[in-house]
Order: sequence, then structure tokens, then C-alpha cells
Amino acid sequence: MRKHLALFGSGRGSNGEAIYKAIEAGHINGEIVLIISDRPHVGIVEKGRAWHIPVHIVDPANYGIEAAWTQAMLDLLQEYEVEGILLAGYMRILPPTFVQAYRGNILNIHPSLLPAFTGLQAQKQALLKGVKYTGCTVHFVDEGMDTGPIIAQAVVPVYEDDTVDTLSTRILHEEHRIYPEAVRLFCEDALNIVGSRVVIKKQAIIK
Ligand code: GAR
Repeated sequence: MRKHLALFGSGRGSNGEAIYKAIEAGHINGEIVLIISDRPHVGIVEKGRAWHIPVHIVDPANYGIEAAWTQAMLDLLQEYEVEGILLAGYMRILPPTFVQAYRGNILNIHPSLLPAFTGLQAQKQALLKGVKYTGCTVHFVDEGMDTGPIIAQAVVPVYEDDTVDTLSTRILHEEHRIYPEAVRLFCEDALNIVGSRVVIKKQAIIK
């Protein structure tokens, strides 16, 4: 059975597109059955419509209290029988009750080598700190901000003449490689969470 996946995004949607293409190419035993965005006029929404995938705009500002926003998202996930949630440039912290409902089944990509540079503008934080290497991380989502068990990471060098744009582009290239690969492993049930670590089943080594 192909795993039912929901894509959550707030912006451009390039990671969503990398995953979509990997699915189309037959590399992932899953399908994106639903896209949820908190913003109506962004790339991920346009892409989802072009791919003929149901897109729902769920903006917390329209729900008053957090419990109502949470329930709206949970109702949609139930309707589409979603088993895995992929945050791809989704710029909100999910409520704890939501995370608890799908614990171990929510993945996120972050543009730093976690646990360094959590939160917004991770690439700018890396430049300001003067690190020589940074990168990206795919991890399971827990109640914290960018703190859940790490599934995959890729390292990129930081050059002296880098700007936020050049560094972000170099990191993004790696994001598009490791996120689909992590989703592939997730869809094969090859990722075991053991305490705060992710153990990858031996027959499904990261490519
Ligand atoms: C990506 O660089 C992703 O790592 C980052 O937002 C960008 C979304 O790009 N996510 C975060 O910073 C989450 N804290 P995309 O919409 O083109 O995939």
C-alpha cells in the first residue's frame, strides 16, 4: 500500500516539488493526497493545483482559538486518511495536541545542521556566527522548535564571499536530495525512533 502523505507548506514549494517528482519517478512508495497551506497565494498552492492534488488553506487567524485550528487540520487529515505529514517550508509551530496525534509520523526539513541554528533565517544565523560548514537536516517533529529525532543530514561549506542567497541555494540543493530520500525510508517503514535517535533498518541504507 502506498502511504498517504500530506504536504504542509507556506511558500515557494521547491522541497514539495522534489518529493512530488521522486514519487512520480517511482522512488517513493507513497502519494501526496493533500496539501495544506496557511497562505493562499504561494508557490506550493499553485503547484498543488497544477498537480491536481487537493489543496486546503488552513489559516490559524480564521479559527480564533488554537483548539479549533488544530481540529480543522485533524479533520482534513482524517478525511484523506493521511498517514504521514511532510512539513516543507511550513513556517508555523504545530500545536502540541496535533504533534501528539501524529507523533513519529511528521517530518520536517530545516536549513541548518541541527541542533545548531533553530528557528527562522538559519542560513543568516550561520553566516553571522562565522561557521565554516553548515547544511540541512530532516527530522521528526516533536513539541519543540526544530528539536525532534534526526533522520538525515547533509553538510555544505560556507565560503568567505557567501551571501544569504548563495548559501541558501547551496543548502537547498542538498535539501532536495535528502528530503525525498528520507521520505522514501519513511514510506518503507525503515525508520525506528529509539529514544532521541533514529535507527535506519539495515536493508534500507541511505543512498
Ligand atoms: C527551505 O529552505 C526549508 O529548509 C526552510 O524553508 C525553505 C522552504 O523552501 N524551512 C525552514 O526554515 C523551517 N524552519 P521551499 O518552500 O522552496 O521548500
